[in-house]
Amino acid sequence: MKTDQRIKTAGKKLWSGRFSTDPTSQTIAFTHSIEADTRLIKYDIWGSQVHAIMLERQGIILENDLREILLWLGKAAEDFQSGSFMLDPNKEDVHMNVESYLIENAGREFGGKLHTARSRNDQVLVDAHLYIREEILNVQRSISSLCNAFLNIAKVHVDSVMPGYTHTQHAQPISLGFWATAYVSMFLRDQRRLSASYKLANTNPLGACALAGTTFPIDRQFTTELLGFETPQEHALDVISSRDFIGETLFALSMVMANLSRLSEEIIYWTTYEFGMAMLDDAYSSGSSIMPQKKNADIAELTRGRTGRVYGALMDLLTNLKGLPLGYNRDFQEDKPPLWEAFDIVNECLGILPDVLKTTEFKTERMAELVNANFATATELANYLVKEHHLSFRESHEIVGWLVGELVHKELTFLDLELTHKLLLEKDVDIPISQLQQILDPVLALQNNQSLGGTSPKEVNRMIDSFEKQLDDIAMNVSTNQARIDEAYKETKHEIEKVLDKKIVT
Ligand code: ARG
Repeated sequence: MKTDQRIKTAGKKLWSGRFSTDPTSQTIAFTHSIEADTRLIKYDIWGSQVHAIMLERQGIILENDLREILLWLGKAAEDFQSGSFMLDPNKEDVHMNVESYLIENAGREFGGKLHTARSRNDQVLVDAHLYIREEILNVQRSISSLCNAFLNIAKVHVDSVMPGYTHTQHAQPISLGFWATAYVSMFLRDQRRLSASYKLANTNPLGACALAGTTFPIDRQFTTELLGFETPQEHALDVISSRDFIGETLFALSMVMANLSRLSEEIIYWTTYEFGMAMLDDAYSSGSSIMPQKKNADIAELTRGRTGRVYGALMDLLTNLKGLPLGYNRDFQEDKPPLWEAFDIVNECLGILPDVLKTTEFKTERMAELVNANFATATELANYLVKEHHLSFRESHEIVGWLVGELVHKELTFLDLELTHKLLLEKDVDIPISQLQQILDPVLALQNNQSLGGTSPKEVNRMIDSFEKQLDDIAMNVSTNQARIDEAYKETKHEIEKVLDKKIVT
């Protein structure tokens, strides 16, 4: 029975020396990581090229070995592109697939030398570091375009008044521009978190080997530079055991999703009939199969709904790590699928939300109507009594609270200035109606909130300028980082060409 399940046709495992039987098909199916690894092949090949170049420079392999290795690594990349080299689950993972390709094509005497002074344990980390590095830059670019969509809204709406909320109840007047810039301020923190994650990912694990370093005279500084990493990640045992760079990235992505989900929540209720503060473009909404009148904010709902999967990825990683002893553990293989999923979800959401925002119509008349409807300027009146009538804030709060209670009882608002004036007189507060009108005007309230970071157009405009500068700095940083990666990649190609050209000459 058991022998039937054994893969007889598959070639020998590269680690099969000490084994007397091949793994069963079940074992292979259970342990391979081919689906997740497909994304890594480009980086696996790059890492191998750099490793091989270093081995030859250090005299660990011969020039001839290097030529054969580089020739066939290049062919592996081409064949993978064209579809003639596909990753085989029988070979377990991307690393074994590439190495097997090399051995099958270049022969064991050449291909068999690539894995000198290296382990899959540092190799898989190199791949993951290289992959995450580029993905973070993509996410950062997308966040910047979302921020720009918000800034464009802000620039035309520094004076558009709307109710600001606390407890989802009308609180104080703010401007739509103030609301929009709040998101920019929030997403700029995500940018900083991603930059910090980039820094962790931008260190070189290659050369940690299985866990203890190696007796071969490797040059970790050289591979660090040729892979465009900022510095070698030194302590070999820690390197092999570390997945906190993934955890940090997943936390940054989780926070991005938290923020996108909160935005989605606002889009969802702002576009309800009851709020009526925004209207989605038809092209970015969905209808109902039965109710002909429906227009739903499905993109926002799906963003909110996918957030849990990104949090799940973070929990998955943290739970994976909590019981692991130092060194490599196969549990680590499970770090990649959730990370890929998290990047995919964040990229999908960031890919569409800037367009949703750009095409949304904000209903400023409705916002103005709402801000006058429910005592949003009560705090302004209380502040006025403190400043001009020399009451303590607690006393003025009491008087204005009483006034609001009376008006609510009569189902009226501050818009009834006559009555407001009369009621205040009952508390010995005499404010001329024309003055009252100014105090209770939400637009003036906006203009007067000039404290640092307040909702006044002056402050919002200042913050718009400051955020634009910060976004410029981030764009600069992202393109410098991208250029460093591209440069390292080009430099590797150049090194490869030098080696391969020489062969033609000799
Ligand atoms: N597929 C493995 C992973 O993702 C690669 C490293 C395997 N190392 C090992 N010692 N089995 O973690």
